[in-house]
Amino acid sequence: MAAGGLVVSGQTGDISCFHCHSKEVNDFQESIHFNKDISCTDCHGGDIKISGEVVSINVMHTNFTGVPSRVNMTEFCSRCHAEVTNTYEESIHWQRLKEGRVEAAACTDCHGTHNILSSKDPDSQTHSENIPLMCASCHENQTKMQAWYYGISTDRFDTYKKSYHYKAYISGGEVLATCSDCHENHDTRQESDPKSAVNQANLPATCGKPDCHQGANNAFIYGGKVHEGQSVYLGFIDAKKLVTYFYIIMILFEITFTIGLIILGITSNFELRRRH
Ligand code: HEC
Ligand code: HEC
Ligand code: HEC
Ligand code: HEC
Ligand code: HEC
Ligand code: HEC
Repeated sequence: MAAGGLVVSGQTGDISCFHCHSKEVNDFQESIHFNKDISCTDCHGGDIKISGEVVSINVMHTNFTGVPSRVNMTEFCSRCHAEVTNTYEESIHWQRLKEGRVEAAACTDCHGTHNILSSKDPDSQTHSENIPLMCASCHENQTKMQAWYYGISTDRFDTYKKSYHYKAYISGGEVLATCSDCHENHDTRQESDPKSAVNQANLPATCGKPDCHQGANNAFIYGGKVHEGQSVYLGFIDAKKLVTYFYIIMILFEITFTIGLIILGITSNFELRRRH
């Protein structure tokens, strides 16, 4: 099909928009949404011209919704992915977005926007091997996590990398368990939430998933921490190191103090004896 001399393959809907938004249309044509009877207007609204008509900015009028806010983006996706969207809206990520914490993950942070691919595609951000880096792009970033303010650990990826689950992958095997295998794709919750897959009470079920550690019991779970040696950052200071230094100083201080007391004790004893 041709519009204004530009050759556009595929859906009629792309033509009206391609003229002015070629990058978005090109991305879209690579995505899983392409050739599924979905067009730009399914998400953005607007008016699709029949090929041959003059393309003008007026196509962005009828029911045009433009760019959604990060929290309202779910309204775009829920039309076709209602179940996933409902689950996601219960997650810590959407709950935090709703509270105005704009750094929390929206659908497009994990999946991309116009270039969404199936997770089975090795190029997808949500392909199992790429998930750790995708989560880490926020969870390792102290500014995005506002770690200094919320006291959130930013070494989840580092600690995970040291675990058996990822080591097996680095040494040429598969990723044994990726972040979302334990934290869920969409039902991601805080550890303290009783519904969280990583809540202490639910760990036997999470670790004991088929193909994982069937029959995992509490002894097994206590035996292997996933994010071992975590640290909490206060600004740029690693709180764990701070605590260590604090103890070293305290111990040195106490030793000096005790020795001082003993010396004082001995000298005062001498004095007492002299007076008698
Ligand atoms: C004649 C050119 C033209 C056509 C055709 C056109 N647009 Fe636009 N579009 C623009 C311009 C100009 C802007 C403003 C860009 C900016 O603000 O940076 C814009 C902005 C947008 C935005 C962002 C709006 C916002 O809230 O920031 C979206 C989404 C969009 N267009 C979607 C579409 C869709 C979908 C189509 C096809 C139905 C379409 N456009 C067709 C020129 C066009
Ligand atoms: C599955 C839903 C969906 C479809 C289909 C879709 N978009 Fe978008 N588009 C979005 C979302 C969501 C955003 C906001 C980007 C973000 O915040 O990640 C967006 C943003 C935009 C923007 C603003 C870009 C910017 O950087 O601010 C333009 C322009 C746009 N889309 C054009 C199009 C065109 C043209 C098509 C058709 C090829 C299209 N979109 C198809 C969901 C969609
Ligand atoms: C108009 C309907 C429609 C809308 C709106 C829509 N999708 Fe889709 N989506 C589909 C269809 C159809 C598929 C293909 C399903 C298939 O091939 O099994 C799909 C596939 C996907 C996949 C790949 C699933 C897989 O198999 O790995 C993801 C991820 C996805 N969509 C995310 C989104 C996101 C995020 C939004 C909102 C920004 C959105 N979709 C909006 C219809 C839609
Ligand atoms: C776009 C950035 C971003 C991405 C991508 C992201 N997260 Fe988050 N995540 C956040 C923010 C921000 C919070 C909220 C922290 C807070 O204020 O409690 C959060 C909270 C969480 C929490 C609850 C922890 C807590 O202390 O609140 C878990 C668990 C979590 N994310 C896991 C994941 C996993 C697993 C992935 C990848 C599949 C992921 N996140 C991807 C930004 C992101
Ligand atoms: C924190 C990251 C993250 C967010 C936010 C997120 N997803 Fe996903 N999503 C994933 C991961 C990871 C997978 C699965 C990868 C796999 O199959 O191993 C997935 C799978 C999917 C699938 C295909 C499998 C299924 O469960 O049906 C669809 C469709 C989908 N997501 C849509 C969405 C939509 C719509 C939103 C927003 C309402 C969203 N996702 C928000 C990470 C995310
Ligand atoms: C094998 C399972 C497993 C994998 C893989 C895993 N985690 Fe965890 N994660 C846990 C468990 C269990 C906890 C809670 C106990 C703890 O803190 O060690 C946790 C805690 C967390 C928390 C803090 C939650 C809270 O509410 O305080 C975040 C954030 C987090 N993980 C992110 C990640 C990210 C990002 C990845 C991937 C790079 C990842 N996790 C990989 C099991 C896992």
